[in-house]
Amino acid sequence: MTAAKKHLVVFSGAGISVESGIATFRGEGGLWDKYDVDEISSIEAWNNNKTFVLNFFNQRKREMLQAQPNKAHKIIAELEDHFKVSIITQNIDNLHEKAGSTNVLHLHGEITKACNEDKNHIIDIGDREIQVGDKAPDDSQLRPYVVWFGEQVIFLEEAMNLVESADILLIVGTSLNVQPAASLPELVGKDTSVFLIDPNPQNINRKITIIPTKANEGMEVIKAFLLEGKPLPTYELLQEEETDEMLLICNRMINEYPDNPDFWMQKATRLGELERYDEAVKCQDEAMKLFLSA
Ligand SMILES: NC(=O)c1ccc[n+]([C@@H]2O[C@H](COP(=O)([O-])OP(=O)(O)OC[C@H]3O[C@@H](n4cnc5c(N)ncnc54)[C@H](O)[C@@H]3O)[C@@H](O)[C@H]2O)c1
Repeated sequence: MTAAKKHLVVFSGAGISVESGIATFRGEGGLWDKYDVDEISSIEAWNNNKTFVLNFFNQRKREMLQAQPNKAHKIIAELEDHFKVSIITQNIDNLHEKAGSTNVLHLHGEITKACNEDKNHIIDIGDREIQVGDKAPDDSQLRPYVVWFGEQVIFLEEAMNLVESADILLIVGTSLNVQPAASLPELVGKDTSVFLIDPNPQNINRKITIIPTKANEGMEVIKAFLLEGKPLPTYELLQEEETDEMLLICNRMINEYPDNPDFWMQKATRLGELERYDEAVKCQDEAMKLFLSA
């Protein structure tokens, strides 16, 4: 009898597709340098100017469909020969699938899909672009099947279950900035090994092995480590595990109720008491966003 394969959960963000030529949102060269996100990627933007939003998404779609999977996407697909691989991605591109991965959960939607205004009727539209006037079966305006600011993340519960059951969690190319997805890594079991590949790692508050490289290089390193037992290079850094009891409670409450601004404020207050001001400001911002959208 062969031993069951270990469960490798990959949590990917926009950074994994950068070497395929797709820009991230934040950071240098990110799309937010060129556009105001509130004007293009929010429910308000959609209600105010559908033509503008559709043009933006049609343009992104053209770029994404022309792009090819890079080495990082391909290695993740190859790892299915050795592990039970589940991918949770914040990306709306289809590069994991193009690389051959078979088990991909898209938390923020997919560029090849469209839906009605209520988002309960989803249609595969492939490379077709959406225009103002295109109707869904319920006669509402067809829209991209993506999650905008102010909307619920898709498949969050499934993603949480996957992370909880991971033997290994591999996070690639995400600033861990967008909630609630960003809290997912905090759900891993205590024996799970967690790795992060990102040239500019941010928002880490648990014990994690960081590989501060671009996705292609980092995935080569991880592949050699996982399959051949090759030690990680010396840039390995271990972050302090969160030890403050109050913050641990806040994190758990935020995991459970990510849309409740009170927990974010409590966390901001505690971080302030601990003089962790940068993190406190981020939590305060999140709380304000939630208060305003309530
Ligand atoms: N490809 C896509 O589908 C795409 C592209 C842009 C934005 N988005 C959306 O943007 C939102 C933002 O979340 P996010 O955290 O994924 O992105 P983000 O833009 O907040 O963060 C991107 C991260 O990628 C890192 N990065 C940059 N170049 C990299 C490289 N070559 N290799 C590895 N990492 C690299 C950055 O340091 C940063 O931490 C998501 O909701 C997603 O839906 C998706």
